[in-house]
Amino acid sequence: MTPLRLGVNIDHVATLRNARGDTYPDPLRAAEVAIVAGADGITAHLREDRRHIRDADIAALAALCQRLGRPLNFEMAVTAEMEALALKLAPHAACLVPERREEVTTEGGLDLAGGFDRIAPAVRRLAGAGIRVSCFIDARDDQVDAAAAAGAQIVEFTTGPFCDAVRAGDPEADAYLALLARAARRAADAGLEVHAGHGIDYATVGPVAVIPEMRELNIGHFLIGEAVFLGLPAAIRGMRERMDAARATAVA
Ligand code: PXP
Repeated sequence: MTPLRLGVNIDHVATLRNARGDTYPDPLRAAEVAIVAGADGITAHLREDRRHIRDADIAALAALCQRLGRPLNFEMAVTAEMEALALKLAPHAACLVPERREEVTTEGGLDLAGGFDRIAPAVRRLAGAGIRVSCFIDARDDQVDAAAAAGAQIVEFTTGPFCDAVRAGDPEADAYLALLARAARRAADAGLEVHAGHGIDYATVGPVAVIPEMRELNIGHFLIGEAVFLGLPAAIRGMRERMDAARATAVA
């Protein structure tokens, strides 16, 4: 089966740093450690309110990833400010996400179908600059079709509803997983590369990793939390092992 890449989101190393207004722990060091431990790429979200990653971090991360030959996946809201920054940084990929200031984290996918006329031109401009454009969407037909029509190369499906349901012992979890699998097939049939992320932990990574069309998972909060107990390299290796084990049992 096609290998599955692991993108490690290091935002919450910056959350911890910012809690004390100091210079440590350094998200740049976390990115370097993550790559050595087996991360295939680094993901970072420069939020409009700069609550974790800051402008200087993202510039330094772009330089680090370039030096180490690893992709940087720049998560960004669809705003003129973020688009200008992405065009300047020229990361390997830009993942377009919805953003509301009052939210604790990204809640659900981008409404690409509803906001097509605003978002599709941004997709085209970023893609025209050679950036691989990913759209973070819910596992719904209309959103997949909108991503393909907008000219995105990648869709990242939100695994939040599935992961939340598993943790809550909600029997709807299986239904959410079935939606993900179905949407992944539709996206791949439309020529889109399929990624997934949000809320993934050791218990939920397996069922997502076995979806054959999956090419990349982006995982952050759980890994940084687990690093408190195991250390970041061990937390990442544990995730990698579970991804590989799930993939090995799947039908090609
Ligand atoms: N993918 C996207 C688009 C996200 O917004 C996030 C959260 O920043 C993640 C993946 C990672 O989610 P988590 O931190 O819950 O693993």
